[in-house]
Amino acid sequence: MSASPARRYRPETRLVHSGTLRSSFGETSEALFLTQGYVYETALQAEKRFKNEEPGYQYSRFSNPTVTMFEQRMAALESAEAARATATGMAAVTTALMGQLRAGDHIVSSKAVFGSCRYVVEDHCPRYGITSTLVDGTDLDQWKKAVRPNTKTFFLESPTNPVLEVLDIKAIAKIAHDAGATLVVDNVFSTPLYQRPLELGADCVVYSATKHIDGQGRCLGGVILASEKFIQDNVHQLIRQTGPSISPFNAWVLLKGLETLAVRVQRQTDTAATVAVALAEHPRISRLIYPGRPDHPQAEIARRQMRAGSTLVAFEVKGEKAAAFRFQDALRLVKISNNLGDAKSLITHPATTTHQRLTPAARAELGITDGLVRLSCGLEHPDDIVEDLVTALAAAA
Ligand SMILES: Cc1ncc(COP(=O)(O)O)c(C=O)c1O
Repeated sequence: MSASPARRYRPETRLVHSGTLRSSFGETSEALFLTQGYVYETALQAEKRFKNEEPGYQYSRFSNPTVTMFEQRMAALESAEAARATATGMAAVTTALMGQLRAGDHIVSSKAVFGSCRYVVEDHCPRYGITSTLVDGTDLDQWKKAVRPNTKTFFLESPTNPVLEVLDIKAIAKIAHDAGATLVVDNVFSTPLYQRPLELGADCVVYSATKHIDGQGRCLGGVILASEKFIQDNVHQLIRQTGPSISPFNAWVLLKGLETLAVRVQRQTDTAATVAVALAEHPRISRLIYPGRPDHPQAEIARRQMRAGSTLVAFEVKGEKAAAFRFQDALRLVKISNNLGDAKSLITHPATTTHQRLTPAARAELGITDGLVRLSCGLEHPDDIVEDLVTALAAAA
């Protein structure tokens, strides 16, 4: 196996070449090593591998060459020392948090996180004697006031799902570090191309690779990126021993997905900006949220910490749930789905799907009204998407 050269290329180039382990066949496209285990030349070699006295693979729950390629490409993209892939984005979030936390510890999290992440913080952690405090992530004072002597980690998502609030990662990382805690950032909505949390001070970044990294709705996956020490102390053994490991097949799909990530995300972002312009003043819409617009509540932070807006736009259809449902049902091209980051444009009604588990009061606090929809822009022609949205808005009136 030969590894690709270490020279630091620009992100678009790293997405195509970094991490490649070429076998003796000299294949152009990275190989899929669909194997559970590995054979050893001798019994002594097996012993040495298990004692970590010799590098090499042992079992695909621990690692696999295709998985390594995906991890190394992600690490090169983020300039992270180490990466570990997982079976899903939720496995990445749960491993990154639970790997650090022990009974008696405390976690502070932004309220505005993906529904399942909030479940992990609010419902799962307390079962193991870990207390949690949820804060309005946009209010730095709330992060400061939430700190306790036993606070071990902070968790946030930015832009948030689904109302696309932008949180000040640098400032929150400082509050965490002043308190002796770490910061874990779920970077799904900005993609690895638009926001670099490790450079802003975060200790760990997690992704649902299911979203933009696959980008064609095929398979689930996740990834955790951090320093070598963070991974060794908190992540490596947990994955190896408890098994939230990714399938080599899924890692291969995601690895190949990375090669087209930059062009896809650029096109989807351009489309989202076009949709935002087309719908901002639409008479059937009461509020439109897009991080690339100057009227976004955290426009200044977005400018400072993100390279570009987002592939998603959120907006409120006048007439509450009934109108939002009529609008979705009238769409012909844009599909109704709770997913995002796909080649196909997808629309979600968070109040009745991704965030239905929250109480009405908790949803109201997050700005998730019954008229709110979230659009994930796909790769279709932007004019076709806008025409579909405008036609459906008229039909929903
Ligand atoms: C922001 C965010 N984090 C985490 C997840 C979980 O990822 P997965 O579905 O791959 O487990 C999702 C989506 O499902 C998400 O939108």
